[in-house]
Amino acid sequence: MPIEPPLNPRLTEVLSVRAPIMQSGMAGVAGPELVAAVSNAGGLGVMAALRLEPDVVRRSIRRVREATDRPFGVNIWLHDDVRTSPDPAAIPDDVVRRAQTVLNHFRPRFDLPPTLDRPPPTVDLVDAALEVMIEEKIPVFSAGLGVPEPDLVERFHRAGTKVISMVATVEDGRAAAAAGVDVIAAQGSESGGHRSYGAKLAEDEAQGSSSLVLVPAMVDAVGGQLPVLAAGGVIDGRGLAAMLALGADGVLLGTRFVATRESAAAAVWKQRLTTGVRSTALTDGFTGQWARVLQSEFTDHWGRAGAAALPGLLQAAAGQDLFGAAKELGDDQLQPLYAGAAAGQLSDIPSAADVVTGMVDAARAILRA
Ligand SMILES: Cc1cc2nc3c(=O)[nH]c(=O)nc-3n(C[C@H](O)[C@H](O)[C@H](O)COP(=O)(O)O)c2cc1C
Repeated sequence: MPIEPPLNPRLTEVLSVRAPIMQSGMAGVAGPELVAAVSNAGGLGVMAALRLEPDVVRRSIRRVREATDRPFGVNIWLHDDVRTSPDPAAIPDDVVRRAQTVLNHFRPRFDLPPTLDRPPPTVDLVDAALEVMIEEKIPVFSAGLGVPEPDLVERFHRAGTKVISMVATVEDGRAAAAAGVDVIAAQGSESGGHRSYGAKLAEDEAQGSSSLVLVPAMVDAVGGQLPVLAAGGVIDGRGLAAMLALGADGVLLGTRFVATRESAAAAVWKQRLTTGVRSTALTDGFTGQWARVLQSEFTDHWGRAGAAALPGLLQAAAGQDLFGAAKELGDDQLQPLYAGAAAGQLSDIPSAADVVTGMVDAARAILRA
């Protein structure tokens, strides 16, 4: 049988992959098993390193290498507020009180005591993780929430690592291209989880542009220089074909890969993504940064309460007892079940390899027709 040419030679050449499909780094979801499965299927699997101790990052990279000889990536956030924790003592009393009062509404559900306490400062693990990635000479570094500085890009390049920058605006796409990155991933407003802005925006600005609007604009702005991946709302071959038609060189998927067999997401998350009510909401109530999650009692109540989220990731630290208990007990209303706007279209939990090959086959059939 003749070997089909790659759907997009430019991307497959830069990243040495066979399929123009990248699986997003996803904290708590994209562990070595999922990453290796996607890479073995010809896509680019990306491990999430956020909030991992450096020795865990190193061990995980080595586990991926044991499970695949294909290229893979590691993702971390670079946001200033995420790297350097804001000082909890500097937050005005009433801001802490209002945020904790909203969380107190739910604490009795898990027999947790109410509190108006300040959260502890979050620990900066980003620099240590970056050092491990450079030492381990990973094939691809994926930078989220913040455009990498040119000298960081240069250090990765010296280690033989390609750099992908996740961005949600054309301005950040231009800045990332100027910083020397190898690939841009443009995240439309449909995207699940946190989109990559360099700093937290006001709620109306954080809504962002849909993939249909952002992707061609990004292609026009930087596509002449480097490959552009489209992220947000793509879950199948139709989405891949559509994004290629818009000029993208490939796609980056999060939500679809959460509901796969190899994903480390909890069963309740996979089940909510594939059955029942799957509306999504943009909220800063779980972490302090805007993220798209499955709509829940928490997102409704937090939105109505109108309290300001604590800065950086201190909101996550403030609600750690509550969100942690919800996770432990499998409660689907009080933990962040990150999901993109296309979650409502999912109805199965396939293997990651079936996602990659099924998308390529379907996109080819559409593009041939
Ligand atoms: C469960 C989940 C976790 C995510 N975690 C990260 C992350 O750790 N780093 C990152 O850069 N983006 C993260 N994202 C955002 C993705 O990079 C991407 O923008 C998004 O998933 C694309 O939209 P889709 O979910 O519709 O495929 C996450 C997304 C999801 C759904």
